[in-house]
Amino acid sequence: MKSTGFYHCDTCNNLAVLISTGKALLHCCNEPMEQLSAKETGSGQEEHVPVLSVSNNRLKVAIGAVEHPMTQEHYIQWIALQEGNHMESVRLRPGDKPEAEFSYHPFDEQQELFVGENDEIVPNCEGNPCNFVLTEQPAARSVVYAYCNQHGLWKAEI
Ligand SMILES: [Fe+2]
Repeated sequence: MKSTGFYHCDTCNNLAVLISTGKALLHCCNEPMEQLSAKETGSGQEEHVPVLSVSNNRLKVAIGAVEHPMTQEHYIQWIALQEGNHMESVRLRPGDKPEAEFSYHPFDEQQELFVGENDEIVPNCEGNPCNFVLTEQPAARSVVYAYCNQHGLWKAEI
């Protein structure tokens, strides 16, 4: 079964992001691509799980609590932020710091709905007296992914 996510080719190391699903399986090198499952815990988590901090609408990401190596043989290839229906990624090279920074506006997609006495949604408070309850919809979940060329896909949720 195919679903949106990250897909890897074990033969050539191609990595694909499936944004929208169709009927066919993704193939590479004449084989079906493997859907990656992001880890949050387990062996190696100290060096791989993204560590997140938010300040002034900036999301700072460091990989991991113990800084991940960035050698030619073993490094974090990219870090990505998925925020609702938006995805942004930063590619890294050996020698770079295993870090990234993103613009972060977790409440942009939050909707303020005004709900009247009969649970109808009213566009604003035009009546007098104003008789509504403000309901805040939860913000979309944000996920930060990091991909290690040796240890695969890791994630942390905000
Ligand atoms: Fe690693």
